Amino acid sequence: MANNSAVITDSFKVEKEEKVNKKLRWAIVGCGGISQTHMGAIKKIPQIEVVGCCDIKPDRLKVMKDQWGIEAGYEKWDDLLREIKPDVIDVCTPNGVHCPAVVAAVEAGCHAITEKPMAMNPAECQQMIDAAKANDRKLAVGFQYRYHPVCEMFTRAKAAGDIGDIMFVKCQALRRRGIPNWGVFGQKELQGGGPMIDIGVHIIESAHYCIGEPRPIAASGNIWTYIGDKPSEVESMWPGWDWKTFTVEDLAVGQVRFDNGCIMQIESSFSAHIDHDIWNFTIMGTKGGFNFDTATLFTDHAGTMINAKAGYLPNPGGDSLFVAKLKNFANGILEGTPLRAPGESGLAVQKIIDGVYRSAAAGKEVAID
Ligand SMILES: NC(=O)c1ccc[n+]([C@@H]2O[C@H](COP(=O)([O-])OP(=O)(O)OC[C@H]3O[C@@H](n4cnc5c(N)ncnc54)[C@H](O)[C@@H]3O)[C@@H](O)[C@H]2O)c1
Repeated sequence: MANNSAVITDSFKVEKEEKVNKKLRWAIVGCGGISQTHMGAIKKIPQIEVVGCCDIKPDRLKVMKDQWGIEAGYEKWDDLLREIKPDVIDVCTPNGVHCPAVVAAVEAGCHAITEKPMAMNPAECQQMIDAAKANDRKLAVGFQYRYHPVCEMFTRAKAAGDIGDIMFVKCQALRRRGIPNWGVFGQKELQGGGPMIDIGVHIIESAHYCIGEPRPIAASGNIWTYIGDKPSEVESMWPGWDWKTFTVEDLAVGQVRFDNGCIMQIESSFSAHIDHDIWNFTIMGTKGGFNFDTATLFTDHAGTMINAKAGYLPNPGGDSLFVAKLKNFANGILEGTPLRAPGESGLAVQKIIDGVYRSAAAGKEVAID
């Protein structure tokens, strides 16, 4: 293996004691499941003070206010923005609400971070980027997997010359039977799609980040629905999903071509007849390869093919990846440090997903602008 000095990728580290000169006044829009993880993470970030929250459902607002001691709660973000004037809006709503909430926030003078996926489609992502630029506000997407210690291991190996030119990356976010039985994850008009946009996005964003974010230029793929839209008595981890409103795919498979010749293959499912769930990407380069799931580098060394497994990596347990991503955004605003997942990264990932969906609808390869 090469001995070049490693790049600094220590964003995962959480300082034990940190002096903070200024706190960001932060507000959460959407007080459902993931907002709780955000709140848990925020409690570990001294740069953030939560000053308000917003949800269209009064019961969700009440839980949020009572549980976290937030005084100001609103059913409309316009009221929140006008009365509280936060520095940052943290959007934790279903996908179809990300774009209007972010645009309203940046137009009111707030910086905005939105949960993944960035939006429903690339046009919405572009609208969000343009609005943030026009109002000179920062915009980030809540992609936490690029902060994973295994991604940081890969980034250091790549910078050290262990990988060479990357030719192929295979992304898999496969559940054997895991259709969410809460929220609106089965409703295409509110989510933009099924497993590809909901969980495939995690593996795609982290793999795309690791391979250097090349520009996607063409996509080919297909999607299938064969389980989610029917009642089922099969035992599974989240039984009783709303099959009557299920309009998304069970399985999506796609291939994307990048401008540097690299190919990304994507497999993502809520339901698939496979041995076990898979959460992984595999990278093949001219000098070495990499497997996310096992944190293993494949290379040749001194006449031998070597599988080099990480001897130690920090354990990304609990909400630590959320701490890393929210802290990166807070520091970006306060210190001007680079955002690891700016709006442009969200747009590129959305173009990959959208390309596969468009190809599935067209029944042929489609170009990505
Ligand atoms: N990064 C991750 O690992 C991760 C994990 C889970 C979910 N998510 C993302 O977070 C988002 C929310 O997911 P969730 O599981 O928390 O869903 P959820 O359904 O539990 O919560 C969404 C909340 O948004 C509220 N809401 C809907 N429309 C609103 C509006 N116009 N104004 C204010 N509030 C509104 C709903 O009432 C609900 O309380 C989704 O985009 C999802 O993809 C990310």
